[in-house]
Amino acid sequence: MAAVVEVVARRRRYRMGLMLVFLGLFMGNALAVDRSNFKTCDESSFCKRQRSLRPGLSPYRALLDSLQLGPDGLTVQLVHEVTKVVLVLELQGLQKNMTRFRLDELQPLHPRYRVSDVLVADPAPARLSVSGRDDNSVELTVAEGPYKIILTAKPFRLDLLEGRSLLLSVNARGLLEFEHQRHRRVPQGARDPAEVDGAQPEAAAGDGDKPEEPTEREEPGAWEETFKTHSDSKPYGPTSVGLDFSLPGMEHVYGIPEHADSLRLKVTEGGEPYRLYNLDVFQYELDNPMALYGSVPVLLAHSPHRDLGIFWLNAAETWVDISSNTAGKTLFGKMLDYLQGSGETPQTDVRWMSESGIIDVFLLLGPSVFDVFRQYTSLTGTQALPPLFSLGYHQSRWNYRDEADVLQVDQGFDDHNFPCDVIWLDIEHADGKRYFTWDPSRFPQPHSMLQHLASKRRKLVAIVDPHIKVDSGYRVHEELRNQGLYVKTRDGSDYEGWCWPGSAGYPDFINPATRAWWASMFSFDNYEGSAPNLFIWNDMNEPSVFNGPEVTMLKDAQHYGGWEHRDVHNIYGFYVHMATAEGLIQRSGGVERPFVLSRAFFAGSQRFGAVWTGDNTAEWDHLKISIPMCLSMGLVGLSFCGADVGGFFKNPDPELLVRWYQMGAFQPFFRAHAHLDTVRREPWLLPAQHQEVIREALGQRYSLLPYWYTLFYRAHIEGVPVMRPLWVQYPQDVTTFSIDDQFLLGDALLVHPVSDAGAHGVQVYLPGSGEVWYNIQSYQKHHGPQTLYLPVTLSSIPVFQRGGTVVPRWMRVRRSSDCMKDDPITLFVALSPQGMAQGELFLDDGHSFNYQTRQEFLLRRFSFSQNTLVSSSADLRGHFETPVWIERVVIMGAEKPATVVLQVPGSPESHLSFQHNTETSTLVVRKPGVSVASDWSIQLR
Ligand code: NOJ
Repeated sequence: MAAVVEVVARRRRYRMGLMLVFLGLFMGNALAVDRSNFKTCDESSFCKRQRSLRPGLSPYRALLDSLQLGPDGLTVQLVHEVTKVVLVLELQGLQKNMTRFRLDELQPLHPRYRVSDVLVADPAPARLSVSGRDDNSVELTVAEGPYKIILTAKPFRLDLLEGRSLLLSVNARGLLEFEHQRHRRVPQGARDPAEVDGAQPEAAAGDGDKPEEPTEREEPGAWEETFKTHSDSKPYGPTSVGLDFSLPGMEHVYGIPEHADSLRLKVTEGGEPYRLYNLDVFQYELDNPMALYGSVPVLLAHSPHRDLGIFWLNAAETWVDISSNTAGKTLFGKMLDYLQGSGETPQTDVRWMSESGIIDVFLLLGPSVFDVFRQYTSLTGTQALPPLFSLGYHQSRWNYRDEADVLQVDQGFDDHNFPCDVIWLDIEHADGKRYFTWDPSRFPQPHSMLQHLASKRRKLVAIVDPHIKVDSGYRVHEELRNQGLYVKTRDGSDYEGWCWPGSAGYPDFINPATRAWWASMFSFDNYEGSAPNLFIWNDMNEPSVFNGPEVTMLKDAQHYGGWEHRDVHNIYGFYVHMATAEGLIQRSGGVERPFVLSRAFFAGSQRFGAVWTGDNTAEWDHLKISIPMCLSMGLVGLSFCGADVGGFFKNPDPELLVRWYQMGAFQPFFRAHAHLDTVRREPWLLPAQHQEVIREALGQRYSLLPYWYTLFYRAHIEGVPVMRPLWVQYPQDVTTFSIDDQFLLGDALLVHPVSDAGAHGVQVYLPGSGEVWYNIQSYQKHHGPQTLYLPVTLSSIPVFQRGGTVVPRWMRVRRSSDCMKDDPITLFVALSPQGMAQGELFLDDGHSFNYQTRQEFLLRRFSFSQNTLVSSSADLRGHFETPVWIERVVIMGAEKPATVVLQVPGSPESHLSFQHNTETSTLVVRKPGVSVASDWSIQLR
């Protein structure tokens, strides 16, 4: 009953939302999250306990006599001086300048959860050897690594040094807190709750040998916790883990998405820590550290001299505190300290706290941020190479009503001359929210609808959520139930929660058998009405449970392997995404690349597809925050990120909608989406003048698709982000460290979207001393570093191409990317002050794995120097038959040549026609007419 009330209440909240939209229009009010639905650190008992521990001498001591060194690293025991409980530390040097350590109990009463499936392989160890030792410490040298590790026994700490400089310390503030498992002190005769479900831990038998447990604080919430009307039975008692990391010399830290906050992380002292707990937050607010839909426990630290990363591999609820000894000091204050020689070295301290699991940490030692990207993606995998269509424009709303509506929308794009690759169907398309089915009256012929879209070279994405309607007539439910593949409650029955379909079961995606079964559901036979141009959207996979605590699953729900939901919460959505992507791969016999959008994510989710920033609002501040939110995700591997264009809640006015299209066109995942209660907003419904501007933005997106595709290839091969903060390319320029309103695409394009109502101009920061930047619309050249005031009109999207780069484009915008993929290429060459430029182009069939399995691809390099542009292969393994040719070369920053000559090996030289604009120093060379696959050069003489 309570559940029904909750669903009704939620629907009511959505309706209320609509009312507020109208009120907001008149009163200018912003919608706001109901904060009381979500825990603060004080309301999360383990966070409160961990945080109450103050810095000081650590009670842990390493027992150096127990130290054992093997080819894979060392192990040593740590004893808690008060409780006498013993932990085991496993420390490994890893290749590529990384270190890993794990801490677990020596004799846990119950095994602790260790995250699997996130690492793509066992990381290759680098041999550790003891290079020094005294009574209280051991110095370790890492083979092939430039750094040393000093392990201090009492109090326990680890220091990583490069030469004589300290890079990072672990437990320097003494905040290691490992809540060992224990028996509950229960009145005589009563049973230990941990035994109730028969899950009596293995190690318990040996308890007689364990030291007597000294008195420990058993605070409220340690063995049972209530939040609002929900209670968590906590059969294993307190199991949290926490640890601090000190980063001397570091003042700027980034990462740990997902938060609707600034790119640069803030100090959390005196406020709430950043929270990582995948949650469906209704009407989320900006500029705060509250948890959102996804979690990637990776933090990057940056200074002008060094970059480091900390990857805390734990899938339980996690909080991160950040403090700094320079926080609150003005730049002037810091300078004064420096001049007086009185300032301390700046230092940031980071403290991680997780509810259960072990401590498993990777220290990514850079030294550059690009090294950190490569290190992290060597562990968790790189961004999946998206099918080309998915980089085009996606048109979505909750909901396109029926087949006729879908076909009209599809036709609308053609009638009004807007490109579009994909139309999306939200939950109402399914029969009573029974995913994998179609509403028989509204979507009676999904297959012919899909065929029609295929004839237009477009795709459809349908939503498949992981909550399954409890209905004995629904095959999906029956199979999951009969095969025992649902998440269970503590008493072993199928867990049921409320979500869109009403009462719903949640497949246990932690179980490999569930994932295999789920993947098989996407076969064309099992998913009736589906077709090769149908792709998938996984929503609500935090998982969202309307009547659950904090709108999610009970922490004591049971998963495969005896794990509690508490242990695996943050990785649930990752597994949903994984199984769906696997299903799409399997349905094509392993040939076609999948496209799956997921709302929840974890470290490694980049391997399965795209993510988006969830239910934002049609407000200017939400438009702005999409930049730092997607930048933060890109820093931790998730390059394929976007925000709902237009804003999900509320109705954007035409100006905001236009600006959002202009922003979205330059963000990796480009989808317009809107709430059920909003007014329709397909681009042709706007006044003509706004339509034209949106058409231009879409045109920019489509013409840059060859560049986007090449950037994604790089992200896929190397693990470098597509959308980048400026500091990544200009690591020594402090001005860039806190920039949230502009970004780079690859290393060539700098984008400063307009995100203020009624803007007449923007202040653009153009970085790099000795760098030049060309406005891509006017070709006007500007020198860096400078802050440039640029007047804007509604149609301006300030974008600059860096001198020294080559950007490939398709200049004819057609109905969809598939209609453009064989079109000729125009190369935009922007010369550096030295008259040089470099760029590349990746091409393949755009949809299959043949680039990988059969080397069917082209990677071309274009380099300009000494007045000559040369095209050569950047990867001789690749070969790909393609009709694509080079139709034009635009060279920015070029003098007027007397003649332009094309040279193709084996053919006589030919002269090309050209046009030079003296005012902008731009040379347009016409029709080289050479195949994109061939080697050639163009000489300006
Ligand atoms: C929540 C999602 O975030 C939103 O995009 C979607 O439209 C609704 N669920 C309905 O499926």
